[in-house]
Amino acid sequence: MSQAMAELFRRITLGVYVVGVGGARERRNAFTAAWVVPVSFQPLLLVLSINPKHSSYQLLKEGGGFSVNVLRRDQLELAAHFGGPSQTDKLAAVAWHPGKTGAPLLEDVLARFECEMTEEHPVGDHVLIVGRVLDGVLLQPEAEPLIYRETGDMDGASMIFPDRF
Ligand SMILES: Cc1cc2nc3c(=O)[nH]c(=O)nc-3n(C[C@H](O)[C@H](O)[C@H](O)COP(=O)(O)O)c2cc1C
Repeated sequence: MSQAMAELFRRITLGVYVVGVGGARERRNAFTAAWVVPVSFQPLLLVLSINPKHSSYQLLKEGGGFSVNVLRRDQLELAAHFGGPSQTDKLAAVAWHPGKTGAPLLEDVLARFECEMTEEHPVGDHVLIVGRVLDGVLLQPEAEPLIYRETGDMDGASMIFPDRF
Protein backbone atom coordinates (compact mmCIF):
# COMPACT_ATOMS: atom_id res chain seq x y z
CA MET A 1 0.00 0.00 0.00
CA SER A 2 1.24 3.50 -0.75
CA GLN A 3 -0.14 6.93 0.09
CA ALA A 4 2.74 8.51 -1.88
CA MET A 5 1.91 6.55 -5.05
CA ALA A 6 -1.79 7.45 -4.70
CA GLU A 7 -0.83 11.14 -4.30
CA LEU A 8 1.29 10.91 -7.46
CA PHE A 9 -1.46 9.28 -9.53
CA ARG A 10 -3.98 11.90 -8.33
CA ARG A 11 -1.96 14.35 -10.47
CA ILE A 12 -3.27 12.61 -13.57
CA THR A 13 -6.38 14.75 -14.00
CA LEU A 14 -9.52 12.64 -14.32
CA GLY A 15 -13.22 13.31 -13.95
CA VAL A 16 -15.62 11.35 -11.76
CA TYR A 17 -18.53 9.45 -13.27
CA VAL A 18 -21.33 7.14 -12.27
CA VAL A 19 -21.33 4.30 -14.78
CA GLY A 20 -24.74 2.68 -15.18
CA VAL A 21 -24.89 -0.97 -16.22
CA GLY A 22 -27.40 -3.74 -16.88
CA GLY A 23 -30.96 -3.70 -18.13
CA ALA A 24 -31.34 -7.34 -19.09
CA ARG A 25 -34.07 -8.97 -16.96
CA GLU A 26 -34.49 -5.62 -15.14
CA ARG A 27 -31.19 -6.18 -13.29
CA ARG A 28 -29.27 -2.90 -13.06
CA ASN A 29 -26.55 -1.27 -11.02
CA ALA A 30 -24.20 1.69 -11.12
CA PHE A 31 -20.70 2.35 -9.80
CA THR A 32 -18.37 5.31 -9.50
CA ALA A 33 -15.51 5.37 -12.00
CA ALA A 34 -12.66 7.74 -12.72
CA TRP A 35 -10.95 5.64 -15.38
CA VAL A 36 -13.15 6.74 -18.28
CA VAL A 37 -11.71 8.35 -21.41
CA PRO A 38 -12.73 9.20 -25.00
CA VAL A 39 -10.47 7.39 -27.49
CA SER A 40 -11.86 7.94 -31.01
CA PHE A 41 -13.65 10.70 -32.97
CA GLN A 42 -14.88 8.54 -35.85
CA PRO A 43 -16.54 6.41 -34.69
CA LEU A 44 -17.12 8.05 -31.30
CA LEU A 45 -15.66 5.67 -28.72
CA LEU A 46 -15.18 5.78 -24.96
CA VAL A 47 -13.11 3.37 -22.89
CA LEU A 48 -13.64 2.52 -19.27
CA SER A 49 -11.50 0.38 -17.02
CA ILE A 50 -13.43 -1.87 -14.63
CA ASN A 51 -12.31 -4.28 -11.96
CA PRO A 52 -13.91 -7.60 -13.06
CA LYS A 53 -14.57 -8.44 -9.38
CA HIS A 54 -17.19 -5.68 -9.19
CA SER A 55 -20.75 -6.95 -9.38
CA SER A 56 -21.27 -4.32 -12.08
CA TYR A 57 -18.97 -6.21 -14.45
CA GLN A 58 -21.35 -9.17 -15.00
CA LEU A 59 -24.31 -6.83 -15.33
CA LEU A 60 -22.43 -4.76 -17.89
CA LYS A 61 -21.81 -7.85 -19.99
CA GLU A 62 -25.41 -9.02 -19.62
CA GLY A 63 -26.81 -5.66 -20.70
CA GLY A 64 -24.28 -5.09 -23.50
CA GLY A 65 -24.11 -1.36 -22.84
CA PHE A 66 -23.40 1.28 -20.23
CA SER A 67 -24.09 4.89 -19.38
CA VAL A 68 -21.56 7.48 -18.22
CA ASN A 69 -23.12 10.06 -15.89
CA VAL A 70 -20.87 13.07 -15.35
CA LEU A 71 -20.85 14.31 -11.74
CA ARG A 72 -20.73 17.95 -10.60
CA ARG A 73 -18.30 19.32 -8.02
CA ASP A 74 -21.05 19.30 -5.37
CA GLN A 75 -21.85 15.60 -5.88
CA LEU A 76 -19.10 14.08 -3.71
CA GLU A 77 -21.74 12.26 -1.66
CA LEU A 78 -23.14 10.61 -4.78
CA ALA A 79 -19.61 9.55 -5.79
CA ALA A 80 -19.20 7.91 -2.36
CA HIS A 81 -22.64 6.28 -2.55
CA PHE A 82 -21.99 4.62 -5.92
CA GLY A 83 -18.36 3.96 -4.98
CA GLY A 84 -19.49 1.43 -2.38
CA PRO A 85 -20.46 -2.22 -2.91
CA SER A 86 -24.00 -3.17 -3.88
CA GLN A 87 -25.26 -4.68 -0.63
CA THR A 88 -28.44 -2.71 -1.22
CA ASP A 89 -30.00 -1.38 -4.41
CA LYS A 90 -27.82 1.70 -4.88
CA LEU A 91 -30.15 3.04 -7.57
CA ALA A 92 -33.10 3.18 -5.14
CA ALA A 93 -31.58 6.35 -3.63
CA VAL A 94 -31.68 8.44 -6.84
CA ALA A 95 -33.96 9.39 -9.72
CA TRP A 96 -33.09 7.57 -12.94
CA HIS A 97 -34.60 6.11 -16.09
CA PRO A 98 -33.45 3.40 -18.49
CA GLY A 99 -31.61 4.50 -21.61
CA LYS A 100 -31.36 3.05 -25.12
CA THR A 101 -29.37 0.01 -23.96
CA GLY A 102 -31.39 -0.45 -20.76
CA ALA A 103 -28.55 0.90 -18.61
CA PRO A 104 -29.71 3.47 -16.01
CA LEU A 105 -29.36 7.20 -16.71
CA LEU A 106 -29.25 9.47 -13.63
CA GLU A 107 -31.55 12.50 -13.79
CA ASP A 108 -29.53 15.03 -11.78
CA VAL A 109 -26.08 15.07 -13.38
CA LEU A 110 -24.03 17.54 -15.42
CA ALA A 111 -24.04 15.44 -18.59
CA ARG A 112 -24.38 11.85 -19.69
CA PHE A 113 -23.43 9.45 -22.45
CA GLU A 114 -24.96 6.18 -23.61
CA CYS A 115 -22.69 3.51 -25.04
CA GLU A 116 -22.98 0.11 -26.60
CA MET A 117 -20.15 -2.20 -25.59
CA THR A 118 -18.09 -3.20 -28.64
CA GLU A 119 -14.87 -4.71 -27.25
CA GLU A 120 -13.32 -5.94 -24.04
CA HIS A 121 -9.59 -6.23 -23.28
CA PRO A 122 -8.13 -7.58 -20.03
CA VAL A 123 -5.35 -5.26 -18.76
CA GLY A 124 -3.56 -6.15 -15.53
CA ASP A 125 -6.12 -6.41 -12.73
CA HIS A 126 -8.79 -4.52 -14.72
CA VAL A 127 -10.71 -4.96 -17.99
CA LEU A 128 -10.95 -2.23 -20.62
CA ILE A 129 -14.46 -1.89 -22.00
CA VAL A 130 -14.77 -0.06 -25.31
CA GLY A 131 -18.13 1.58 -25.91
CA ARG A 132 -19.53 3.15 -29.07
CA VAL A 133 -21.29 6.36 -28.08
CA LEU A 134 -24.95 6.11 -29.12
CA ASP A 135 -26.17 9.32 -27.53
CA GLY A 136 -25.23 12.05 -25.10
CA VAL A 137 -26.65 15.18 -23.53
CA LEU A 138 -25.22 18.22 -21.75
CA LEU A 139 -27.83 18.88 -19.06
CA GLN A 140 -26.15 21.56 -16.92
CA PRO A 141 -23.70 23.51 -19.12
CA GLU A 142 -22.80 26.04 -16.39
CA ALA A 143 -21.87 23.39 -13.80
CA GLU A 144 -18.26 22.49 -12.92
CA PRO A 145 -17.34 18.81 -13.19
CA LEU A 146 -16.05 16.89 -10.17
CA ILE A 147 -12.32 16.13 -10.48
CA TYR A 148 -10.89 12.84 -9.24
CA ARG A 149 -8.28 14.56 -7.07
CA GLU A 150 -11.09 16.24 -5.11
CA THR A 151 -12.36 12.82 -3.97
CA GLY A 152 -9.21 12.32 -1.88
CA ASP A 153 -8.82 8.68 -0.91
CA MET A 154 -12.53 7.89 -1.30
CA ASP A 155 -11.71 4.91 -3.54
CA GLY A 156 -9.14 3.55 -1.06
CA ALA A 157 -6.45 3.71 -3.76
CA SER A 158 -3.70 4.35 -1.19
CA MET A 159 -4.37 0.84 0.15
CA ILE A 160 -4.16 -0.69 -3.33
CA PHE A 161 -1.25 1.07 -5.05
CA PRO A 162 2.08 -0.74 -4.74
CA ASP A 163 4.75 1.14 -2.78
CA ARG A 164 7.34 0.90 -5.58
CA PHE A 165 7.49 0.89 -9.38
C1 LIG B 1 -13.70 8.19 -6.94
C2 LIG B 1 -13.79 6.72 -7.30
C3 LIG B 1 -13.33 6.29 -8.53
C4 LIG B 1 -13.42 4.93 -8.89
N1 LIG B 1 -13.01 4.54 -10.14
C5 LIG B 1 -13.17 3.25 -10.51
C6 LIG B 1 -12.84 2.85 -11.84
O1 LIG B 1 -12.47 3.65 -12.70
N2 LIG B 1 -12.99 1.53 -12.15
C7 LIG B 1 -13.45 0.61 -11.26
O2 LIG B 1 -13.56 -0.59 -11.60
N3 LIG B 1 -13.80 0.97 -9.99
C8 LIG B 1 -13.67 2.26 -9.61
N4 LIG B 1 -14.03 2.64 -8.35
C9 LIG B 1 -14.48 1.63 -7.39
C10 LIG B 1 -15.95 1.24 -7.54
O3 LIG B 1 -16.79 2.36 -7.68
C11 LIG B 1 -16.37 0.44 -6.29
O4 LIG B 1 -15.54 -0.67 -6.10
C12 LIG B 1 -17.83 -0.01 -6.32
O5 LIG B 1 -18.12 -0.56 -5.04
C13 LIG B 1 -18.15 -1.04 -7.37
O6 LIG B 1 -19.54 -1.22 -7.37
P1 LIG B 1 -20.30 -2.61 -7.52
O7 LIG B 1 -19.65 -3.56 -6.53
O8 LIG B 1 -21.69 -2.25 -7.16
O9 LIG B 1 -20.14 -3.06 -8.93
C14 LIG B 1 -13.95 3.99 -7.97
C15 LIG B 1 -14.42 4.43 -6.72
C16 LIG B 1 -14.36 5.79 -6.39
C17 LIG B 1 -14.90 6.23 -5.07
